[in-house]
Amino acid sequence: MADNHLKELVDQLTLEEQVSLLSGQDLWSLNAIERLDIGSLRVTDGPNGARGAKGSGGLLEGAPAASFPVGISIGASWDVDLAEEIGAALADEVMTKGAHVLLAPTVNIHRSVTNGRNFECHSEDAELTAKLACAYIKGLQDKGISATIKHFAGNESEIERTTMSSEVDERSLREVYLRPFEDAVKLADTWGIMTSYNRLNGTFTSEHDWLLEDVLRGDWGYQGIVMSDWYGSHSTAETVNAGLDLEMPGPTRDRGDKLVTAVEAGEVSREVVRKRALTMLRLLDKTGALNSTRPKQELSVDAPEHRALIRKAGSAGAVLLKNEGAILPLKETNGKVAVIGPNAKIAQIMGGGSSQITPHYRVSPWDGLASRLGEEQLIYAQGCTNHRFEPLWTCDIKADYFNNQDFAGDPVHTDVFSSAEVVWGLPIAEGHVTDPNRFSVRMSGTFKAEKSGLHQFGVNSAGYLKLFVDDELVVDAHTDWEIGHTFFEEGCDPVVGEKALVAGLSYAIRLEFVTNENAKLLYAAFRAGIGIGLSDKDILDAVQAASEAETALVFVGRSGEWDTEGSDLQDITLPGRQNELVSAVLKANPRTIVVLQTGGPIEMPWVKDAPAILQAWYPGQECGNAITDVLFGDTEPGGRLSQTFPATWVGNPTGGKGDEVYPGKDGKVLYEEGVFIGYRHYLKTGIKPLFPFGFGLSYTDFDLSDMSVVSNGTKATASVTLTNTGKRAGSTVIQLYVGDVQASVERPMRELKAFKKVSLDAGESQCIELTLSERDFAFFDTANRLWRVEQGEFTVEVGLSSTDIRCCETIQMEAMTMKP
Ligand code: BGC
Repeated sequence: MADNHLKELVDQLTLEEQVSLLSGQDLWSLNAIERLDIGSLRVTDGPNGARGAKGSGGLLEGAPAASFPVGISIGASWDVDLAEEIGAALADEVMTKGAHVLLAPTVNIHRSVTNGRNFECHSEDAELTAKLACAYIKGLQDKGISATIKHFAGNESEIERTTMSSEVDERSLREVYLRPFEDAVKLADTWGIMTSYNRLNGTFTSEHDWLLEDVLRGDWGYQGIVMSDWYGSHSTAETVNAGLDLEMPGPTRDRGDKLVTAVEAGEVSREVVRKRALTMLRLLDKTGALNSTRPKQELSVDAPEHRALIRKAGSAGAVLLKNEGAILPLKETNGKVAVIGPNAKIAQIMGGGSSQITPHYRVSPWDGLASRLGEEQLIYAQGCTNHRFEPLWTCDIKADYFNNQDFAGDPVHTDVFSSAEVVWGLPIAEGHVTDPNRFSVRMSGTFKAEKSGLHQFGVNSAGYLKLFVDDELVVDAHTDWEIGHTFFEEGCDPVVGEKALVAGLSYAIRLEFVTNENAKLLYAAFRAGIGIGLSDKDILDAVQAASEAETALVFVGRSGEWDTEGSDLQDITLPGRQNELVSAVLKANPRTIVVLQTGGPIEMPWVKDAPAILQAWYPGQECGNAITDVLFGDTEPGGRLSQTFPATWVGNPTGGKGDEVYPGKDGKVLYEEGVFIGYRHYLKTGIKPLFPFGFGLSYTDFDLSDMSVVSNGTKATASVTLTNTGKRAGSTVIQLYVGDVQASVERPMRELKAFKKVSLDAGESQCIELTLSERDFAFFDTANRLWRVEQGEFTVEVGLSSTDIRCCETIQMEAMTMKP
């Protein structure tokens, strides 16, 4: 619709109608205005799939959807074309879910190695993140689906995320943390941006005038909508005036009648409300929601082309960290293969939190190997566990609700759950619970023991919980309940009790849940699991399997229970007894390949002994197939690290610097390291990482030669010859870093400014050109609020990682300044 028609339309709306466009009607959709045939805009979470609207409580309740690789895997692919293809495929997925907007991509920067959401983000580097995000947005929006790049800004940790103030100086913001958003606005024309939960330098980002008006709309000229993160709006006039168009989710808490009253009281002008409503109408128009053409039903379309794309993307992001003696790729004639480890038969395909979806299917490494080699070639041993929570207790669980916190009187309602993981959303108990802050639930079901022995009963809850086995109290997460790191920091850490059970017998399990009326998010939830731990014998069985086989594959790592929204990791040690398992298997069989699946770095005490290590991340539903493709050389390990792997946690940019720097103290987290995060930190301090940024091996070898740099003093173009010197076709990533040799301010020794993923046949050479703009030489001059290039010498380095520089030239640049 032409813009003047949209303007006419907004002027036909009453104040109340304009206001109604500025908040959600429910969790995933906006108010329609039937009087004028204005449809309802619907949104759905990404970034690694389109979940749809059904998963309102449990995030895995939605209609099955295609599960794509997580952000760090796309980051490690360094492949902008792939990111665009994924964006385009996700656009199709969003349409099948009847929605118009995908809440993605997530582009916060890997500042610490323990941020729970690093898996969802692309990289520690802003250039790489920005390029991939722009391509992903293009893929989505070219098909009429809006992106919502998030979380703007300073959300680099999950600790106290709804209140924490990220204290970041303007230069670091401009050069690092805001950069992906800036490119998304200026180069990809993103239609949507989501503010973060945290405060930035003291002010909530959802009401941050400087961030939303001065920088985003002023400096960058942004025309699209700004929405809050879920429940991340905390005011009426402040957010509207500062530039937040949309409060999510609905029903509104801060707008509606409150906003109408604020307008009447003169706290918000009618013109501002009109402007925000017009911005919303423009988005409705672009996405087709204005005329509500998209059917509301949610479909599951398991498209073969999505399967193929996801499988391809899995190997494009897989990083080969070690390959001594060219042990990989494997050959089918390599004899029996021992398939070992807690991630061998469980497909770890995604992280935890709002990005979770119900996948169409999950191919585990075992499944992938079995379909390639046949099960008779494989020997299996689990070895140990790596879970954070005990395996979920499932059965028909009867739930009796009470309208008080002590189970008094008759139940007001009875329900049946199919598993012991419940997040209560309104209305509770079909509306029979009158006060969501004050109720109790008694739940009962049975558990049949399959094995005899000591069982672990683990619970965590946002609210108080006791677990009884045959009327005996086994877990008490009530009496000494303490807030911990589960359920978006509203729940306690797992509390585990033990009891010996006998195989074949059934036990009565009773759970008693009571709400915590002091909860910040008014959130009631719990999870209960029952497991029987593995023992020394299981590690010995794994050793036995490894010694009987020609080759051993050990699948270790974490899962979405650890790499999750809502809590940071406590360390980067492989959970459980996995390090012990890896070392034992390496001893038993020198032809052992370690396959890691995590959302970020881990310490590897066994690194010297392991001949081959492959990092596969969480690659989506085709997980096992993609890993098998790489292991057997059907595809290249196409990934290069988008995040440095430190040797130990303390070496990471935020490690060992005091609580103020990480995880934060007294409600503030100081980004004291400034622009020196990621590889910039390791280069500055001389701390040697385990594996550097940009690193990854190929199955072939590459050489870079004949570099020349042509510069006119303001811009430059580097050309370099890349040759595949090995015996097979393969891919690599050419990385160009710039360094300001004579800077008057402290600047990183080298910074990534351009890159290109290139595939070449054996023996093939190609001349690659990489261009550099004025901005690629600039730093942000905070005192003068502009980008500044200082006259003098700059290095232009080209290499295959941040520490593997193959060619270098020095060029002379002129002094320049640019508007922010
Ligand atoms: C997350 C957002 C997400 C939203 C809706 C929040 O908890 O931070 O990234 O889009 O929930 O699920």
